Amino acid sequence: MKRRDFVQHLCPSLAVIQVLATANACVQAVEPVAELSASEIQEFERVSKKYNDEGYFQEGNQVFVNLSNPAFSKLGNNSGYVNMLDAGVLLLRTDEKTLKAFSNCCPHQGIRGAWDFVNGRFRCDNHGNSYNVNEVNTVSCSSNSISGGLQRFNVVAYQQYVKITKV
Ligand code: FES
Repeated sequence: MKRRDFVQHLCPSLAVIQVLATANACVQAVEPVAELSASEIQEFERVSKKYNDEGYFQEGNQVFVNLSNPAFSKLGNNSGYVNMLDAGVLLLRTDEKTLKAFSNCCPHQGIRGAWDFVNGRFRCDNHGNSYNVNEVNTVSCSSNSISGGLQRFNVVAYQQYVKITKV
């Protein structure tokens, strides 16, 4: 299974584009299109029964997400985001091609639940500092930083599922 299969699921409105083979803007989705390894597919299949009502769960430093859960419907829109508070992850759609995952720990004083996404940046409402999502001058959780970029996590997709690896 290719990662692009996941994208087709997420972007049914653009399926026609693929059928016509004139463009595949949506197909390049989450990360650069690449074949998943057999072990990656096996891992997704192994955990497919574990999703709870919240649509995600953690295993060690990995977070598995079922994007078909209504809790993630906001990710169907550009700039839509979900704060998985307990998992420590902000999941953001930056455009029709891309989902990105970030630490939800504010680089200022570590608050996790006060985020808004405004003008292409995450803004923490605790003290009003905002942080980029482009990995420019990335700053760490609770490092007293009032600017810079949020720490980004790796994302891999399979069908409607996403695996986030926290570093
Ligand atoms: S804790 Fe987020 S801006 Fe201060």
